[in-house]
Amino acid sequence: CGIVGILGNQSVTPLIMEALRRLEYRGYDSAGIAILDHGLLNRRRAPGKLDNLSKLLLSSPISGNLGIGHTRWATHGAPTENNAHPHMTDRVAVVHNGIIENHVALRKELTELGQVFKSETDSETIVQLVDYYLKQGCAPQEAAFKALKRLEGAYAIAMIFSCDDNLIIGARHGAPLVVGYGDHEMFVGSDSLAIAPLTTKVAYMPDGVWTILTREGADFFDMEGGKVECPIQKTALMSGVVGKNGYRHYMEKELHEHPIVIGQTLRRFVDPSSHKIILPHMPFDLSTLKRGIITACGSAFYAGLIGRYWLEEYARLPIDIDVASEMRYRNPPVESQGMGLVISQSGETADTLAALRNLKNEHQKIVSILNNEFSTIARESDVVLGTDAGVEIAVASTKAFTAQLTVLSCLTLVIAREKNKITPENKKVCLTALMDLPSRVAEVLQMKDKIQEIAHKIANAQSVIYLGRGIMYPVAMEGALKLKEISYIHADAYAAGEMKHGPIALIDQTVPVIAVVPSGFLFEKTLSNLQEAKARGGHIIAFTDAKGAEALSTIAEQIIILPTVHAFVAPILYTVPVQMLAYEAAILKGTDVDQPRNLAKSVTVE
Ligand code: G6P
Repeated sequence: CGIVGILGNQSVTPLIMEALRRLEYRGYDSAGIAILDHGLLNRRRAPGKLDNLSKLLLSSPISGNLGIGHTRWATHGAPTENNAHPHMTDRVAVVHNGIIENHVALRKELTELGQVFKSETDSETIVQLVDYYLKQGCAPQEAAFKALKRLEGAYAIAMIFSCDDNLIIGARHGAPLVVGYGDHEMFVGSDSLAIAPLTTKVAYMPDGVWTILTREGADFFDMEGGKVECPIQKTALMSGVVGKNGYRHYMEKELHEHPIVIGQTLRRFVDPSSHKIILPHMPFDLSTLKRGIITACGSAFYAGLIGRYWLEEYARLPIDIDVASEMRYRNPPVESQGMGLVISQSGETADTLAALRNLKNEHQKIVSILNNEFSTIARESDVVLGTDAGVEIAVASTKAFTAQLTVLSCLTLVIAREKNKITPENKKVCLTALMDLPSRVAEVLQMKDKIQEIAHKIANAQSVIYLGRGIMYPVAMEGALKLKEISYIHADAYAAGEMKHGPIALIDQTVPVIAVVPSGFLFEKTLSNLQEAKARGGHIIAFTDAKGAEALSTIAEQIIILPTVHAFVAPILYTVPVQMLAYEAAILKGTDVDQPRNLAKSVTVE
């Protein structure tokens, strides 16, 4: 969900609506805005897409120079108009991301004190708390501060007051908030993208800090009321990045950015003249590093699984890995000063951040692979390895995923070199394959017609099975996740060898089986598993290379022949067509590709 607030010099309603559109990519199921107009707080809210709110504003406009807006991804309370933000009384309006964990106790206390709740949300406790303090005679700043001190849980908040047309109060604790500086105007937003066309001067608020904004500037405070310095930084973001450039969806545009993103990310780490991979200084000696522990969520987790295969195979580094929602509550035995490797596109995912903190408590040094170097995870890491994927708008991750893999492949080669586990010749072969990858990926992007044919085969299926072995198993998982995320077709991935232990019972004429199977290591093994599936009536679709296609010709009904690449980079290359297939299937299903139902881009709640 997303937050925006504007202290402007003209009616801010259209500006807030545009900013909410830029936040749409984060995923939401209702939206609303509140505007101060001559001492009166006016509000419009609507369930569903922003268009519903736009229509409402056309038939029932509100305007004023100060306002806040919100896109909500429901946690407590259904995505109805009544539960949509802003929540307000006559005195104060609030937008909130996150979860107020002590909301039940606060609601009880405030109800007993005579405050009247109008929604089921945890967020409304913030409004009622501030309202209560205002009624007690507190000034807005004091009321807000007192309220913030009572809140437990995670939040990013913006609030405005009917008694002051030159004031926004913002606060962040576990969910991101950015302050933007204009010319006698001030902005606040969940990310710099929200305020990108309005200003490039931003301050990324640290965790546990709240701010008083007036048109003259911003003051920042900690939770004891002490002043905090928060430097203004220039962002490179411009509104241009938010266009679709003629593509049908952001996802399609972002799929086509794979080659450039892989190339850019490689350029960051590979010295062009010496072809040496250069990483930032690491907080441990890579040659004696004994163990790594990887954590992430969603697609980033699958990148981590591929990273595990690489690091174990090429660098001989033992790796433990788990999804962050599990890792944060696990207590794995770790070597002190080991490597905690955290992967996240946004750098704000709540579970990933919590798992990071858990690993830090266990004295792990944190290396993070992030697409946002100003994010909370970036600030809490010992070293950040940046991905140069640029802004990713579609909820389903595509280019950020291949950029993460590109960084992981570079990290693997550096650790393998430092640990003396790879010969210079082999390292050179791997690096050459990596440098060649953008061109090979560009070839895959030309295969749209063939992939569309396959999409027709699976679009009406109830269920699809993806199979892979070894390092291609997580690629199969990524394919299945993408398909279910955006086409809503049930899909699951299995390690091909595990089929016979259960999933094979699912196979019949109606369940397409998609194999991700380049020739080489484990090819024959996967082939046998596919034969077993075919013998039970399964329709086999295979992603392979020219050599693999020959052997698969009697087994698979459809074969997509991908460029032949070195095994080291195969997982990156094979990711692209499985993501394209999910996209084309979603087009046939007519779903909301960029903002699939129930999903959010950046999940800042547990
Ligand atoms: C959400 C998104 C996924 C993403 C995951 C992790 O669930 O819908 O696409 O992979 O979060 O996000 P992160 O920003 O940490 O990579």
